[in-house]
Amino acid sequence: MPPIEGDADLLMLAILNIVDNAWKYSSTGASIELRAYEDGNWIAIEVADTGPGISDEDLPHLGEELFRGELRNQVEGSGMGLALARAIVRRHHGLMSIRSRRTQGTVVTVKIPEKIVVAGSLPRVAHLLHDGMMGER
Ligand SMILES: Nc1ncnc2c1ncn2[C@@H]1O[C@H](COP(=O)(O)OP(=O)(O)OP(=O)(O)O)[C@@H](O)[C@H]1O
Ligand SMILES: [Mg+2]
Repeated sequence: MPPIEGDADLLMLAILNIVDNAWKYSSTGASIELRAYEDGNWIAIEVADTGPGISDEDLPHLGEELFRGELRNQVEGSGMGLALARAIVRRHHGLMSIRSRRTQGTVVTVKIPEKIVVAGSLPRVAHLLHDGMMGER
């Protein structure tokens, strides 16, 4: 796996917040999987859990500052984790997307360009936009 250009501490903070969610919202017995792979000129890091999933009502609000979902009364938090992760990923010219289905689990994908070369990365960004990778779903 080639190295990513960027701030290692900030990127670690982003991933830790995503893993923290997978851990704290899932009950005992759920599995959490971290995977990383190359996708063209991008490095993808994925955190997948088999936890409670996120409702269709909550999904569009993920990454908004202070937003907490329907499990807010059962699990402590401040609603800043994903907003922070998203800001860090954007600073690295990356994309964060979230796929989730109630009762099935959640997959958060972070994609960071291997090298920040604006002209070269534009067609790839267009391709990701077309595939619905921008923003949360
Ligand atoms: N893996 C997940 N499984 C189920 N729900 C999740 C998961 N990740 C995030 N959520 C939902 O998204 C909301 C926003 O997550 P976020 O990390 O931004 O805030 P938080 O976890 O509530 O608080 P903080 O991260 O600041 O401690 C959560 O309140 C929760 O409802
Ligand atoms: Mg959190």
